[in-house]
Amino acid sequence: MKILGIETSCDETAAAIVDENGTILSNLVLSQLDEHRAFGGVVPEIAARAHADHLHTLIKGAMDDAGVCFSDLDGVAATCGPGLIGGVMVGMVAGKAIAAAHDLPFIAVNHLEGHALTARLSDNVSFPYILFLVSGGHTQILIAEGVDRYKLWGTTIDDAAGECFDKAAKIMGLPYPGGPNVQKIAEECTDAQAAQERFPLPRPLIERNKQDLTALDFSFSGLKTAVRTHVDKMPDEGDLDRSAIADLACAFQTAVADVLADRARRALQRFTQEYGVTNPVVVIAGGVAANSEIRARLSEECQKYDAQMIAPPLKLCGDNAAMIAWAGLERLRLGMVDGLDFKARPRWPLDQSA
Ligand code: KG4
Ligand code: ZN
Repeated sequence: MKILGIETSCDETAAAIVDENGTILSNLVLSQLDEHRAFGGVVPEIAARAHADHLHTLIKGAMDDAGVCFSDLDGVAATCGPGLIGGVMVGMVAGKAIAAAHDLPFIAVNHLEGHALTARLSDNVSFPYILFLVSGGHTQILIAEGVDRYKLWGTTIDDAAGECFDKAAKIMGLPYPGGPNVQKIAEECTDAQAAQERFPLPRPLIERNKQDLTALDFSFSGLKTAVRTHVDKMPDEGDLDRSAIADLACAFQTAVADVLADRARRALQRFTQEYGVTNPVVVIAGGVAANSEIRARLSEECQKYDAQMIAPPLKLCGDNAAMIAWAGLERLRLGMVDGLDFKARPRWPLDQSA
């Protein structure tokens, strides 16, 4: 079984072919970073136009790389939300057109389910597992019970973690995209302990209801404000002092990692109680899962609970189409096929009851 996956929900245009063994036959991602850099963030209209300009080339490239033609495919999966709706429509309509022209099943994929199921593609993880979905748009703790079956245990009450990275980076004068650049400059910090003493930062909601295992929400806007306060106190001599920014970036990254580690502790205790699983798996997915400090801290926390932390390979953490093809394949295997009248969804929670 071979599926074509299409992803256009944010600023990556992507196409991929995946088979039922989880072999990625091709996986092409075209980042629009250059188009958006001047604006310091993703501009929806520009993103949609860029997807329309490049998607056909990416699909052809993915087919050629995989050495398949349309008649070799068993289905077409496209991200149909959530995301920037103009871009979503470009990919969705392209997917529907290919499905219609070649009489193939069409699978409408939730972008978040793409991230959620990536660990099954990369590491063959079985249900149920704890999922940390940390991206530019989402910070959620979910229990993945099965395909299309998710329980939301925690979410952010303000900014998403990736958004916080991006905003803090901007405040620190670091280039777009923020997350990777914060990590890069933080690596220049030589004494993480001293950096935290030099730039104390809050760990929002960490001290509250420590024993309450259901207190799993996040808050990141206070952290961002605290970074601003530190930057405002720095001497104003044009460019900010690089070593000070390296220390602040390190302190910031540590604060985010501390918050995630605290939530991992609570979630693991609760999961063990409620699901009776002895060696639980924690999957970390989404763009922020690329952060090595965060991976290390979560992995440390998992070890304390005999849990295994699974973080997909870096190229599968950020937005890509292999995860969409895989989610499509998982759905198709269960007979979950969608009509060509499926409507794009700007909002589409994984846990519809939450
Ligand atoms: O999942 P993703 O590619 O796009 C969506 O939001 O759906 O995630 C992008 C987010 C951005 O906020 C970016 O700054 C963040 O992931 N990110 C990182 C790192 N790489 C990407 N944040 C921290 N450290 C990184 N190494
Ligand atoms: Zn994403």
